[in-house]
Amino acid sequence: MKDILVLGIESSCDETAASVVRNGREVLSNVISSQVPTHTLYGGVVPELASRMHIEAINPVIRQALAEADCTLEDIDAIGVTYGPGLVGALLVGVAEAKALAFAAHKPLIGVNHMEGHVCASLIEHPDLEPPFLCLIVSGGHTHLAEMKDYGDFRIIGQTRDDAAGEAFDKVARAIGLGYPGGPKIEKAAREGNPDAFHFPRGKVGESVYDFTFSGLKSAVLNTLNQMEMKGEKIVPADIAASFQKAVTEVLTEHTITAVKELGEERIVLCGGVAANGALRASLQEACDKAGIRLYVPSPIFCTDNAAMIAVDAYYHFMKGERAGFDLNAVPNLEL
Ligand code: KG4
Ligand code: ZN
Repeated sequence: MKDILVLGIESSCDETAASVVRNGREVLSNVISSQVPTHTLYGGVVPELASRMHIEAINPVIRQALAEADCTLEDIDAIGVTYGPGLVGALLVGVAEAKALAFAAHKPLIGVNHMEGHVCASLIEHPDLEPPFLCLIVSGGHTHLAEMKDYGDFRIIGQTRDDAAGEAFDKVARAIGLGYPGGPKIEKAAREGNPDAFHFPRGKVGESVYDFTFSGLKSAVLNTLNQMEMKGEKIVPADIAASFQKAVTEVLTEHTITAVKELGEERIVLCGGVAANGALRASLQEACDKAGIRLYVPSPIFCTDNAAMIAVDAYYHFMKGERAGFDLNAVPNLEL
């Protein structure tokens, strides 16, 4: 059978990325141009800046992805692009670019849901992995427990009612002076801290064992900081980071294991930017080992935003015969 090459394009937040993937699983190139150093100056992603930087980076990034894959646009069978969820101005850059390339080169266009992409990242390094499985998607904008029933077919089991897990990491990092991006900085600080220095609340949403809430945890951290400051007590950021990370990790692990058991699934995929967190990976691995469940986690480079995951998801939609029209638009609040 002829090889199928998909060009993936990703620009939903602060990485401009392009990738060529062969037959849905083999990554031939994975180019990521990160805007993190620029946004760090402002303590978080500045949407207007993100859009402008995507415009500057997108052509060179795609050119590099094609060159590293040793192919030209002519060789590509389909173009997949993230059309949501994300920042509207950022998404529009990728969508407009993909439409222009698809139109000019007469290539099929596939619109990809960014969260589906995160899940598909797990397929890259695990050739044996096929749906169905349970997924815990933890990123800066989303925290979802979902079942991937088939390619492109998801059922949401639970989700956060307020902050996403990554958002909580980012806000707590800012509060203890670690800056942006919060997740990796909290993880690094936590290595030097005592995870039992503080007992922060493990948020529950009523009787729901599948939904998440992180705003109470974030407030508890802020209140603790305020109280300590008022009493003139010495704040050790590493202890706050370690105790906060332990609370998040415990909640995510507990809910995921409860869900996998109740749903009778045998496999869990952990994905999204927060899945790069070593403490979360270790905690879920330990719980899975105890429960006899197989855990699949992408390497950190495929946890963070990238276009390989977008090309993988696009491949499966392409093989089903799905095509987007030239009216494809950015959908900032696109649901799974
Ligand atoms: O998936 P992603 O790159 O972008 C979105 O789709 O949102 O996720 C970014 C989020 C940020 O909130 C970042 O702080 C968090 O993932 N993150 C981490 C780590 N690396 C990135 N959170 C905890 N530990 C990490 N090592
Ligand atoms: Zn993401």
